Amino acid sequence: MSRFEPKIIGFLCNWCSYAGADLAGMSRIHYPHNIRIIRVMCSGRVDPAFILEAFELGADGVLVAGCHLGDCHYTTGNLKAQRRFIMLKALLEQLGIEPERLKLEWISAAEGEKFARAIREMVEELKKLGLVPLMKRMRCDRSSKLKTPVAKRSYDFMDRIKLLKLSCKSSTLSFSISISQSG
Ligand code: FES
Repeated sequence: MSRFEPKIIGFLCNWCSYAGADLAGMSRIHYPHNIRIIRVMCSGRVDPAFILEAFELGADGVLVAGCHLGDCHYTTGNLKAQRRFIMLKALLEQLGIEPERLKLEWISAAEGEKFARAIREMVEELKKLGLVPLMKRMRCDRSSKLKTPVAKRSYDFMDRIKLLKLSCKSSTLSFSISISQSG
């Protein structure tokens, strides 16, 4: 049995998924302790750079959870999150990170069991995947001043993401168009 305990960063929307996680806790539903929760007002608030930074800083998986489609308290926030999710999966693949490490779930305030199940399943899947290969190498290469081409390329890519983020503040759509044009 694997001893690897993956670290998961969970961005949970305040109105639905955070309340769902709270319900799981209050109902004493068991779920693994591998998740660190960051409460955001809406899943649409989760900037793609937050997710990339979570992986860069050592997360093994990232969960974005929000209200069910049609229930977002800001009307279209979760639709934006859904579009970003598709784009980010492709980006992660280019960075050498398995896209399965990023999950998007719709969890209402009444779905404590669903929240717990999502974490259990995610932990199982991440245990099978193991450490993030590229990020592990990047962390090692920090001390050797980015000598390997793959690490250098990855840092260049991160820089590009940061620049894209600055130049595409207005919408997720323009952000994704710029990504595809710059590739
Ligand atoms: S308020 Fe929950 S996803 Fe927008």
